[in-house]
Amino acid sequence: MEETKVEAALNNVHAAIFCDNVKDSQEEYSGWCDSYDKDADTLNYQSPPQAAKMFGKYCKDATTVLDVGSGTGKAAQLIREEYGYDGDLDLLDFNLNMLQQADNKKLKIRNFIQHWVDDTGELPVKEGSYDVIICVGSFVPNHIPVTAMRGMLKSLKHGGAMILTTRNTKVVSYKLDFDRVVQSMIDAKEAELVDKEEYKNYPGAYDHVLNVVLVLRKL
Ligand SMILES: C[S@@+](CC[C@H](N)C(=O)[O-])C[C@H]1O[C@@H](n2cnc3c(N)ncnc32)[C@H](O)[C@@H]1O
Repeated sequence: MEETKVEAALNNVHAAIFCDNVKDSQEEYSGWCDSYDKDADTLNYQSPPQAAKMFGKYCKDATTVLDVGSGTGKAAQLIREEYGYDGDLDLLDFNLNMLQQADNKKLKIRNFIQHWVDDTGELPVKEGSYDVIICVGSFVPNHIPVTAMRGMLKSLKHGGAMILTTRNTKVVSYKLDFDRVVQSMIDAKEAELVDKEEYKNYPGAYDHVLNVVLVLRKL
């Protein structure tokens, strides 16, 4: 039987996320970058609009924003075009092909940063330099390690917001570890939880994938 558009798009998502290792994942993105946005549309991909909505709600006064794991710049495009953000906007991703797609969108990006976020979460930027860090669809297995969250927080100003999305499945150890790191940052009074909302990541196309968007404020 012929593969439907939705099935083909889901296969591409699975190939990039549920592969054996990081190297395979990155190779998938390099091959997928040209049709990534089309597949995202086919699946009615909700993580960028959900993160952008939180940006619109909590980050009106921001003047410096970093999108980590920006990919083709979907969240960046929304905050520029739908939420009228006109300040400095930096995109960070390991994959140059994905960043190239973002560059094609002409979103007045200040810096494109190629960097692999490792488990320390240390970023090649000045400490305390951003009002907002957005990270959409990249806290998943074979992508950004959960422990990176703590290091990423260092790049935020005090009072700055971190907007994160991840899959909301309780059976995968990645999500359990993600929750533990968030809770440990809250317990240590490094951050507070401002908002949290569950949503369907591909509504209408594939209703089974539940995600969550979180807003943390650095204390
Ligand atoms: C699922 S895509 C999400 C892209 C975009 N944020 C969106 O929602 O459309 C994940 C992106 O994260 C990047 N990525 C994955 N792990 C990374 C890491 N450890 N450091 C830097 N970039 C990473 C990939 O190259 C890819 O562009």
